[in-house]
Amino acid sequence: MSFLTLKGLSKRYGDVTAVAACDLSVEKGEFISLLGPSGCGKTTTLQMVAGFVQPTTGRIYLDGRDITDVKPSRRGLGIVFQNYALFPHMTVADNVSFGMEMQGVPSGERRKRVTSTLELVHLGAMANRYPRELSGGQRQRVALARALAIQPPVLLLDEPMGALDAKLREEMQIELRALQHRVGVTTIMVTHDQAEAMTLSDRVVLMNKACIEQVGRPFDMYEHPNGRFSSTFLGKANVFEGRRSQTSARVEVGELFLPTSDTECVGSLEYIVRPEKIQFSTRTDALLQGVVSARVFLGNHWLFQVETPLGSVQLTHVNAGAPQAAEGDQVGLHWPPEHARLVVRQGTAAGVQS
Ligand SMILES: Nc1ncnc2c1ncn2[C@@H]1O[C@H](COP(=O)(O)OP(=O)(O)OP(=O)(O)O)[C@@H](O)[C@H]1O
Ligand SMILES: [Mg+2]
Repeated sequence: MSFLTLKGLSKRYGDVTAVAACDLSVEKGEFISLLGPSGCGKTTTLQMVAGFVQPTTGRIYLDGRDITDVKPSRRGLGIVFQNYALFPHMTVADNVSFGMEMQGVPSGERRKRVTSTLELVHLGAMANRYPRELSGGQRQRVALARALAIQPPVLLLDEPMGALDAKLREEMQIELRALQHRVGVTTIMVTHDQAEAMTLSDRVVLMNKACIEQVGRPFDMYEHPNGRFSSTFLGKANVFEGRRSQTSARVEVGELFLPTSDTECVGSLEYIVRPEKIQFSTRTDALLQGVVSARVFLGNHWLFQVETPLGSVQLTHVNAGAPQAAEGDQVGLHWPPEHARLVVRQGTAAGVQS
């Protein structure tokens, strides 16, 4: 059994299903993100692991032990919530020491751990300050130090960087990743920010409407989304609908006819192409023709929107100088077929081209 296992975990509030039959295995030392839109059940899942919310059904196992009915304080997990409420009347050191006091850690050991965890988050010099004398990023690190000081088997983070501005957030993400590697603590982080999930996680758990939609390593999930939701929540994607009949060796996606040997691909399909995989093409191998309806400069890349017989198609090109097309231009579009994904719709096994 994995270090942390959720088995058939669900939570209902009256008619609302906040989390439905969630199964998840987390290995020791892994960094897992629960990613998904607002209201999909991320916090509820984390709170069930923390012990603040009692599951309606299912069990939680930690290191081989069923902890479903164990009180939060006895689970000994490190928790950082979005507002990481520090005690305003306590110094940084006292804030970090607090959880250890609750656990009955002797004072000598407490002092040692306060010093070492504050060093770990680069706040060794701020032990005697009060929270109001710290920046947002520093406060966030105190909250992290406080959670780590109790040497928890699992660290639970709920939107830990939600209160930080974009630049600080990016810096903290890199720091948090390095820190988690150093300490090696198993971590589950809730976020609705896909870039944050990809930057930090060993694996991403993508949730939608109370269910787990897909689980995977960031690169694998980005390259092999299992449908429209995954492909558009994790990155951007052009999703075309298509079909394949029983007898045909090709898939029909609007005006596109694509050869496929995949026998699973019968019926309705989604054909997914990432914007950065599409090139302009003047050759005869262009898969689609269209007219550029918008061109936007985004600094490190150009974004184009092209109107085609399949609908609007978005593509992005790295800014390597002047753009290759202007609004109103007639263009051909090409992409390597192995970079497109063909997915059977309605939750059957994914038949993926390439
Ligand atoms: N105590 C509660 N009583 C009733 N419904 C609740 C309760 N807590 C959560 N819910 C509902 O359960 C669903 C999941 O909520 P949850 O807080 O887990 O979402 P979330 O994914 O964390 O969203 P966000 O990104 O907005 O924080 C929502 O529809 C929410 O309204
Ligand atoms: Mg939440």
